[in-house]
Amino acid sequence: MMFKTISNLTNFISPELLHTFFLTTLKYSLFKKNTIYENLRFKLLDRDFDNPLGLAAGFDKNAEVLDGSLALGFGYLEAGTVTPMPQKGNPKPRVFKIPEFEAVIQRLGFNNDGIEIFLSNLKQFRLKSRGLVGVNIGKNKGSSDLYSDYTFLYQKVEPFADYITINISSPNTPGVRDLQKKDNFKKLIEKISKFKKKPTFVKISPDISSSNLENVCDLALNEDFIDGLILTNTTISRDFLHSKPIKNSWKIFEDGGLSGPPLKKITNEMIKKVYKQTKGKIIIIGVGGISTGRDAFEKISLGCSLVQLYTSLIYKGPNVVSKILAELSQLIKKKGLKNVQELVGANIDL
Ligand SMILES: Cc1cc2nc3c(=O)[nH]c(=O)nc-3n(C[C@H](O)[C@H](O)[C@H](O)COP(=O)(O)O)c2cc1C
Repeated sequence: MMFKTISNLTNFISPELLHTFFLTTLKYSLFKKNTIYENLRFKLLDRDFDNPLGLAAGFDKNAEVLDGSLALGFGYLEAGTVTPMPQKGNPKPRVFKIPEFEAVIQRLGFNNDGIEIFLSNLKQFRLKSRGLVGVNIGKNKGSSDLYSDYTFLYQKVEPFADYITINISSPNTPGVRDLQKKDNFKKLIEKISKFKKKPTFVKISPDISSSNLENVCDLALNEDFIDGLILTNTTISRDFLHSKPIKNSWKIFEDGGLSGPPLKKITNEMIKKVYKQTKGKIIIIGVGGISTGRDAFEKISLGCSLVQLYTSLIYKGPNVVSKILAELSQLIKKKGLKNVQELVGANIDL
């Protein structure tokens, strides 16, 4: 409640400035690690997750606040997106809050300090922590070759990552989403797969065409290289914002990816579709509009093994993590399930 008031009061301050402030508080680890819920423990890919809720990519692009983020209660983190060279991203302003929907539109464009600083931060973290961290990789805006940044980064991050996410779904860097097309995707997989040593995920856009999605699912099923899919990145569609009157309507016409609750339905539809098409044989990480324990329950019940969030942290604050975990643990108990692992794909109504 208190954070909500703060969030409302700060609607007029640049979201990027607030983000920098948030990162600073996390650096000084002002938050204490939360309760462990036995029924949320999850074993996957030879790793033990305290719970299935992770921090989505984009929050900690330079792997600089890993300790602090874990202290919020997340079961794992996804750092990045990192690119080979540092880059500033798109001109500001480029992040827009739409409070009516607790949504965000952003076109950051992979602003980050580059792989060298990222790795030095991650190595520091590895010296003192056993926390689970995946690394999300992308391409520099200026690189003309669609594939080489990915093969380069994959090899660089592999020794230090619990898993690697190949981000081919960001709407804010030209060319990235072209990698979802059938021939390009196959070529990308062929080029990287020989370097595989760690669990590997591909992050997909909710705007992908049905035929490209089917192709991605087929390859995910048939290529050992891909362990699973992350569903989904942000959407360039604005269809989900027109159901209510909008005060700051100019913001919805800003270019960029939309995140938060308006994304939930389309992400969940995609999760359903992919779970059905792959017959539950690949791992799905669900992300898009999770702000309550019910939201997390729903995605896991539809077939996700792990889930992630970002935008609800902006609107509900750091305590959202512990609230979601408490509610999810309760719901699992209430439905008579032994643990969260039993919920995956169980299709249980709330
Ligand atoms: C400010 C912001 C920056 C983001 N940056 C990235 C990024 O660098 N890489 C990426 O794969 N996804 C990025 N995302 C997308 C999130 O990881 C996530 O897929 C999406 O926001 C949906 O989840 P949410 O509704 O919980 O925010 C970003 C999202 C936001 C709001």
